[in-house]
Amino acid sequence: MSASAVAGMSVGVAPALEAIDIVKSFDGVHALKGVTLSVQPGEIHALLGENGAGKSTLIKVVTGLYAPDAGQIRRNGEGVEFANVRAAHKAGIVALYQELSIVPTTSVAENVLLGEQLPSRAGIVDGRALRRRAREQLLRLNQNFSTRKLAGDLSPVQQTMVAVARALATDARVLILDEPTASLTDTEIREVFTVLRSLREEGVAIVYVSHRLEEVFELCDRLTIMRNGETITTSNVADTTIDEVISTMVGRSAGSLYPERHETSTEVSLVVDGLNGRRVKNVSFTAHVGEVLGIGGLAGSGRSELLRILAGAQGSKGGTITVDGQVIPHRSGVARALAAGVALVPEERRSQGVLLGSSIQDNIALANISAVSRLGWMSGGRIADLAKRGMTDLQIKARSPRQPVGELSGGNQQKVVLAKMLARQPKVLLMDEPTRGIDVGTKAEIYRLIRELAATGTTVIAVSSELPELIGMCDRILIMHEGSIAGDVPAEGADDELLLSYAYGRSTS
Ligand SMILES: Nc1ncnc2c1ncn2[C@@H]1O[C@H](COP(=O)(O)OP(=O)(O)OP(=O)(O)O)[C@@H](O)[C@H]1O
Ligand SMILES: [Mg+2]
Repeated sequence: MSASAVAGMSVGVAPALEAIDIVKSFDGVHALKGVTLSVQPGEIHALLGENGAGKSTLIKVVTGLYAPDAGQIRRNGEGVEFANVRAAHKAGIVALYQELSIVPTTSVAENVLLGEQLPSRAGIVDGRALRRRAREQLLRLNQNFSTRKLAGDLSPVQQTMVAVARALATDARVLILDEPTASLTDTEIREVFTVLRSLREEGVAIVYVSHRLEEVFELCDRLTIMRNGETITTSNVADTTIDEVISTMVGRSAGSLYPERHETSTEVSLVVDGLNGRRVKNVSFTAHVGEVLGIGGLAGSGRSELLRILAGAQGSKGGTITVDGQVIPHRSGVARALAAGVALVPEERRSQGVLLGSSIQDNIALANISAVSRLGWMSGGRIADLAKRGMTDLQIKARSPRQPVGELSGGNQQKVVLAKMLARQPKVLLMDEPTRGIDVGTKAEIYRLIRELAATGTTVIAVSSELPELIGMCDRILIMHEGSIAGDVPAEGADDELLLSYAYGRSTS
């Protein structure tokens, strides 16, 4: 083991947290079939596995949200049982879930001290004391924003910091993070890493769940891999490689991630001319039939806004959008854009993309009424067929097409939104971060489906923050900088450095 791999880790002391042979089922779904995890104080321990492997369920068990059907939890070597989240919290175990539990309509201060005994005088909450204590916690994390702000107005990284501060306010010694960086940019991720490293130095035991393996290799000391509700292996990060981890995760050796490109037609499908929005400034470009066009750039450069305007989800301030020779009228809304053949898979899929209470098949059918109806009647058989196809194509892990989407793992919920839009076979498919939160095995599958769709004539326009993905997946890449298109390059053989220099506005093509 290299010196860095043992950073703050205390060897020879009892593990801060152990989960031993944990079993958990939900009406017939064996989510955990005997999982074992052991985390030392002062260690950052990655928990890895494909979508639906059971990572979030394990976290919910060790934090008292779910009672295990069998197995034992130990804290500092002693057996414990948690009746609820509060009990686990009292024992120093806190999780930040995939879906951050920030209360957007209350202040930062209240969010940081949520669930704690609030400072009060004569029964009235002492606002100043509250803000001071919240501030102290945030300063510990090097965060210096106003605690009076509404939490909902903070940037994603600030919201993450508020959630971490809240965990620390109650003296967490075991901190579990379930995909904390999924919606953060590179610089913001660095900020979170710095905080996590200093907590490690303080002896906090950290469990880190992520699908971004480069991150795991940079940050973590050890890793545990889960597959189908079981633990496969635990190893030192320094003693393994990303390739080895991928093949252990998926249970086979990974083939090539990106499919082959095919010849793009010269026929134009989309013309965007002089488009303006809040951030988007004078954007013009042309996309072709069957082309996969990537959009890169820093967060805030206008990428997502551009997609929303194209999809009719946001109004523009001038400019024209032409699909297949037809101009889409201004402010015509999502329905008109859909009718013209433009569909969007949004970035915030949980809130914007699916009905969590409805089944997989209803979610897919609702988006594809015409495909499942005959003479105005919805056909049950067609609904089921469409759902089954989506489930197979995207490897959606679920009991049946009738299972409510809310019961699926985070990554599988994302796949339902993709399946819904892929089934529409739109003329122009807009995708915002199509593989965020998706495991490596399925990523390859999504790239293949995007290629297949393009081969049938769909124009795919995808925003991505990952340069290798843009280069591997696309035919051509547009890079945005401060609302404008700074670069337009063929993807094949595109150079990282060049793309970055466009993104930072240091050069233009
Ligand atoms: N409340 C529930 N009801 C029914 N099934 C559930 C419930 N919660 C989880 N499951 C099932 O348990 C399995 C494991 O899900 P879990 O959320 O733990 O996966 P995960 O490893 O966190 O995946 P991801 O990377 O996609 O977040 C899945 O098959 C999921 O559908
Ligand atoms: Mg999960």
